[in-house]
Amino acid sequence: MNDAAAFSPALRRLHFLVAILVTVQLVIGLTMGHDTPNLFLSHQLIGLGIAALVLLHWLWLFAGERGQLAHLLPFGGEARRAVFADIAGLTRGRVPEGGPRAGLPALVHGLGLLALTAVAALGTGIYVLIRLHLSRSELAETLGDVHSFFAWVLIVYWCGHVLLAVLHEARGDRVIGRMFRLGSGSPGASSVRD
Ligand code: HEM
Ligand code: HEM
Repeated sequence: MNDAAAFSPALRRLHFLVAILVTVQLVIGLTMGHDTPNLFLSHQLIGLGIAALVLLHWLWLFAGERGQLAHLLPFGGEARRAVFADIAGLTRGRVPEGGPRAGLPALVHGLGLLALTAVAALGTGIYVLIRLHLSRSELAETLGDVHSFFAWVLIVYWCGHVLLAVLHEARGDRVIGRMFRLGSGSPGASSVRD
């Protein structure tokens, strides 16, 4: 990926916050229990913050970031063809390029974002039930189970996503440096939408 194919500064900042908060949140979710009410309270507050960021991300994708939504959810011809081309390339040992382009990496990122959306929406639902004093209801129980299921999908995504980013970095594609550069970009670097 070259500098001309960098993610926009706004998307990089949003991703930075999501990456840090979700990583912390997954650790809290896996360590909290009945005897750790403070951890559960942190889980609720951080979770609501993440839910707001996820909502912002979707609004951004629908209203702002040109073409990026079709990359993440490739229903259309062009984007779908790019996914199949990447898969065909992989079978011949060619690693798909990253960055804001349609293709297999973008599809996997889209699925990760969908998993996070499900976890955040279900967590928010549980929070509302707690506020309504319905946390011991059958509905809360079911939401908790589905929340845990998608949290595990997200954990699998997290592991694969970070591993692939590190492998890309190791082969010299500076994906991590580019995604986590929080300024407006180096001179000459253009983005999808600054
Ligand atoms: C579970 C938390 C995370 C989620 C939901 C997430 C989601 C995403 C999404 C949706 C994209 C594509 C952006 C777009 O096309 O709109 C992306 C790209 C990226 N993420 Fe994450 N991310 C997470 C955590 C992380 C972490 C912890 C790292 C640290 C290595 C990381 C590294 C990257 C990199 C390097 C890219 C750019 C890949 C490329 O150039 O194709 N992410 N992430
Ligand atoms: C939005 C980001 C969130 C993430 C990434 C997340 C992640 C997790 C994880 C990893 C677990 C442990 C799953 C397991 O051990 O099987 C968990 C459990 C749980 N989370 Fe969240 N969570 C989020 C938001 C929330 C919110 C806002 C609430 C509101 C109350 C919440 C309530 C719960 C509850 C009640 C459990 C225990 C579920 C059970 O064991 O049945 N979560 N979460």
